[in-house]
Amino acid sequence: MAQEEGGSLPEVRARVRAAHGIPDLAQNLHFYDRWAPDYEQDVATLQYHAPRLAVDCLTQALPGPPHSALILDVACGTGLVAAELRAPGFLQLHGVDGSPGMLEQARAPSLYQRLSLCTLGQEPLPSPEGTFNAVLIVGALSDSQVPCNAIPELRVTKPGGLVCLTTRTNSSNLQYKEALEATLDRMEQAGTWEGLVAWPVDRWELATSELEVVSGISAKDGFISGIVYLYRKRKATQVEEVRSSPQPPAGP
Ligand SMILES: C[S@@+](CC[C@H](N)C(=O)[O-])C[C@H]1O[C@@H](n2cnc3c(N)ncnc32)[C@H](O)[C@@H]1O
Repeated sequence: MAQEEGGSLPEVRARVRAAHGIPDLAQNLHFYDRWAPDYEQDVATLQYHAPRLAVDCLTQALPGPPHSALILDVACGTGLVAAELRAPGFLQLHGVDGSPGMLEQARAPSLYQRLSLCTLGQEPLPSPEGTFNAVLIVGALSDSQVPCNAIPELRVTKPGGLVCLTTRTNSSNLQYKEALEATLDRMEQAGTWEGLVAWPVDRWELATSELEVVSGISAKDGFISGIVYLYRKRKATQVEEVRSSPQPPAGP
């Protein structure tokens, strides 16, 4: 499937639709290996803006000068998030991804200080707890990619640091989105994270099938919708305060 150049919109739609339909994580990562040389051109054709949206959301809330922030880009792919982060001056960037092919593309432009192969859901992130001022996962939270049970791995965020996540909200991803939001709610209820932003975006990327455009509950002008979440990891003292504060009675 790998081609020298990205394809036309119908070809790109077919390719991304195929990726969404792969039921197994290992197969999906192989798919990304083969797609890697064409990935950036293809997602540009698809008008995929999640990296810019996530970075805008994160950088508005991240305190301190950009050059002092250490940031982890989880499921970094070819480095689209890093390219967005470097523009306003964020230079201390680490990336992890489960696809060697995608990492190879990310390595070439020297966007990251460190890149590691890591399959979320099967392996821990290769950094100690509390390492990063901010952690992002963009474009990888869906079925057969990063499972919701990998979210607690974002313990690598410093206390007081930020976590930025994106997912699609079109009909085919709604079940995953519900499971993700249940996981995020549990992180909040445990006092570990504090929700700052949930930003729905109508024009996330072009739909990959006519079905989504015609019958999708969120399709607009051929686009599917998505959402950006921003959380702050609480400091240990705040976690204690949340846990010791009176909880509302459980529902019936
Ligand atoms: C759609 S791409 C997004 C890449 C980049 N974040 C972006 O927005 O352009 C999804 C990436 O997630 C990676 N990925 C999917 N599941 C993963 C997992 N369980 N662990 C690590 N990486 C994963 C893929 O290899 C791929 O590079």
